[in-house]
Amino acid sequence: MNILKLQKMKAAGEKISFVTCYDYWTAKLIAQTDVDCILVGDSAGMVMHGHDSTLPVTVDMMVLHTQAVARAGAKQLIVGDLPFLSYRKGLPKAMEAVSQLMQAGAHAVKLEGAAGNEALITHIVQSGVPVMGHIGMTPQSLHQLGGFRVQCKEAAAAERLAEQAVALEQAGCFAVVLECVPPQVAKHVSERLTIPTIGIGAGPGTDGQILVLHDLLGVDPDFQPKFVKTYSNAFAIFQEALNAYNTEVKTAQFPLKEHCYED
Ligand code: KIV
Repeated sequence: MNILKLQKMKAAGEKISFVTCYDYWTAKLIAQTDVDCILVGDSAGMVMHGHDSTLPVTVDMMVLHTQAVARAGAKQLIVGDLPFLSYRKGLPKAMEAVSQLMQAGAHAVKLEGAAGNEALITHIVQSGVPVMGHIGMTPQSLHQLGGFRVQCKEAAAAERLAEQAVALEQAGCFAVVLECVPPQVAKHVSERLTIPTIGIGAGPGTDGQILVLHDLLGVDPDFQPKFVKTYSNAFAIFQEALNAYNTEVKTAQFPLKEHCYED
């Protein structure tokens, strides 16, 4: 997959599927599926490290996760997330962060917000690195937004979102994530852009969807936001396997002869 194919998919009305991925073994799993693209999201801070927001995530953490994902050699496009403030400390530091993620194996980077990022996005794109935008509910602005909450419910905010999306397209983004906005708002924005929109909690009118891998697999029964559909009950499956292992160890049913090196 590459960014040119994504443009063609939008033009052909073909939906695009993204999932998050943070490590080698799940990247190997995704590599054997038809999913189009991988985001090494800074949601890794919450999903993999147990933080209550993405704010503690650093470039070094994202580099480690991106390297692990890239080692699986998946055919999917890999987008690396620029973490909190890494692209807001001036051009040299922003470009250093971009360079680290790309050298770790990303094929593109993602950053949150439009206002104040347009010139930087153009510079990154002109440097040969594809950029994905991310607007609506932008988790790195959690405290500015007053929490993880649906955005753009009022007409004025919806119009601002559309203007931000157009600004991101003009700055050179190859795609834009629309997070937690009403479906009709996301549909309107998607129709105004020539680049694909990728929705999460934004309804069916976007050009593609993204979900956190662990959410769609049902890895955490305590986390069930409205916009997530779980496609398996991985928690129960893994739990059952672990309990079966524990029982077999304690009843001497494992290991058996075939698990031993003797003979
Ligand atoms: O970090 C992430 O996983 C994301 C997606 C939710 C879009 O930014």
